[in-house]
Amino acid sequence: MPQASARTRQAIPASVEGSLVELTPRRRLEDLVLPPETGDEIRDFIAEYSDIALLRSHGLEPRHKVLLVGPPGTGKTSLAEVLAGELNLPFLSVRYDGLIASYLGETATRLRKLTDFISQKPCLVFFDEFDTVGKERGDTQETGEIKRVVSSLLLQMDSIPSHCVVVCATNHPELLDRAVWRRFELRLDVPLPGRPEIAEWFHRLLKDFDGNCNVSEKDFVDALLGMNFSDIEAFTLGIRRKIVLSRGKVSPEEAINAALAKLEKHKSHVGSATDSKPSDSQNPAPSKASKKNKGQEKIHPTTGTLI
Ligand SMILES: Nc1ncnc2c1ncn2[C@@H]1O[C@H](COP(=O)(O)OP(=O)(O)O)[C@@H](O)[C@H]1O
Ligand SMILES: [Mg+2]
Repeated sequence: MPQASARTRQAIPASVEGSLVELTPRRRLEDLVLPPETGDEIRDFIAEYSDIALLRSHGLEPRHKVLLVGPPGTGKTSLAEVLAGELNLPFLSVRYDGLIASYLGETATRLRKLTDFISQKPCLVFFDEFDTVGKERGDTQETGEIKRVVSSLLLQMDSIPSHCVVVCATNHPELLDRAVWRRFELRLDVPLPGRPEIAEWFHRLLKDFDGNCNVSEKDFVDALLGMNFSDIEAFTLGIRRKIVLSRGKVSPEEAINAALAKLEKHKSHVGSATDSKPSDSQNPAPSKASKKNKGQEKIHPTTGTLI
């Protein structure tokens, strides 16, 4: 493992203040519900990075550039956080509002300062919604300049040493060209949860209620399929709140069944109100993994509206 001291907070110098913020990783890998293949990829990555010395003694470098691709609320930010936590690295998240300046020359300078800083010591640097670096001002006449900034980021990425893990996340893989994809050594699809993941979530929920709850797994999975984790989390938090506020009058079983019934009712309302496909304008082009969920409508867990 990297040394524990790597995690100690390093003061963010004035030269990069505003472009970078240090966050505290709170989640561990086992806290996330992941498809087995994603879990395996992450564990392999962690194992590689944790054995840098051995790899280097054989003239090898670990992979250290990761691209996470998937729709909103599927766990990309959580995965970056988990990687930082598991690797015991400072978790530095890039702030585009502080990075992108009104003068593009200034943006490039800030970017260089940022990469100089992160290269100094082991850390995990997270570029969330990576495509927005290019999009931020892409509608101005200076699109060419923006592209140069993105290219310079990519070039600088190549010079970031392997003790620094770079994680980029995007909801819009179609906006990234092949040159960008090529730069990442690990590309992970982070899809909407499928049946096995929702079932796993269900069992974790039941465990919190001491398993003492007679609810059908199938009903739970059927109702939640198509939602992202963020909405599933909101749905189950709603159930917990109901139970707590009832002061023992509502059992977990009753609370879950009532929430499922309410969700089904909303869905049938929405279903009868619209027979059109859910709008894709907010969603990325389907990635390999998200195609699995094609045709599944996404229903907001509390409002029941199509989202
Ligand atoms: N794989 C997962 N397992 C458990 N919870 C998850 C998972 N993915 C996301 N969540 C929950 O959903 C919320 C949103 O996830 P986030 O990582 O912000 O998604 P994204 O970055 O893809 O939009 C988080 O607060 C997290 O608790
Ligand atoms: Mg995110």
